[in-house]
Amino acid sequence: MKNQSYFIAGTDTGVGKTLITLSIMQSLQKTGLSVCGMKPVASGCDLVNGDLVSEDATLIKKHGSQDLPLKVINPLAYKNPCSPNIAAEIEGKMMDMGLVVQAYDEIQSLADIVLVEGVGGWRSPCFSSLGMADIAKALKLPVILVVGIKLGCINHALLSVECILRDNVNLAGWVANMVAPDFKYTEETVNYIKGQIKAPLLGTVPYLATLDYQQLHPYISVQDLMADNDDQKLMI
Ligand SMILES: Nc1ncnc2c1ncn2[C@@H]1O[C@H](COP(=O)(O)OP(=O)(O)OP(=O)(O)O)[C@@H](O)[C@H]1O
Ligand SMILES: [Mg+2]
Repeated sequence: MKNQSYFIAGTDTGVGKTLITLSIMQSLQKTGLSVCGMKPVASGCDLVNGDLVSEDATLIKKHGSQDLPLKVINPLAYKNPCSPNIAAEIEGKMMDMGLVVQAYDEIQSLADIVLVEGVGGWRSPCFSSLGMADIAKALKLPVILVVGIKLGCINHALLSVECILRDNVNLAGWVANMVAPDFKYTEETVNYIKGQIKAPLLGTVPYLATLDYQQLHPYISVQDLMADNDDQKLMI
């Protein structure tokens, strides 16, 4: 069994990609593995002492097994809270895939497993016309899709899976994240999506009214995740 790194995609922005990234990091860390995360591209960053700081990257840094510089975790940071390709144009800072690959290689050399959080949804443009598929392919990573369970998510989930597969990227599994506390049809919705996606459901995260970022490990099935380490089982 080899240590497999993953690209964490979402059905949309704000569906819990960071929360699930931390959750998977913690689950894997509990097994004794050294696990670090990465947020290659981030927009809406805060200017702190002259540096653009991503909130996601800061959380990911805090929960990593190794203490990595923020610049390595998040090589491309933009100030404007919009699509990174638009922010790049406004700020005159074009994206460079080489930087992403270089930072990823550095993290990979220091950890057993790297989790790479994407931006927005699968078709969100990152730089010029490049998107999530280009990053996942450049880093040779299978995808874990985070589905934010709420009204409209069936469409988002199925469209995302269709696109991931059409882009010839492996889908290792998906996670159901209960982002909407008042949504009454979570069970039926999760079951329907489960019946439509061949890749395994790796975890179900309830709505966490009091969020303890240190206690996110119980929600992901490490066994199912590890079972996917066999390339044969990655769903194409
Ligand atoms: N299961 C949950 N229970 C309670 N709150 C949640 C849950 N999942 C996510 N959230 C909250 O929803 C918000 C969005 O989650 P998160 O930042 O992980 O989404 P994201 O997909 O990473 O967003 P972005 O596209 O900005 O990177 C956060 O405030 C997070 O704490
Ligand atoms: Mg995030």
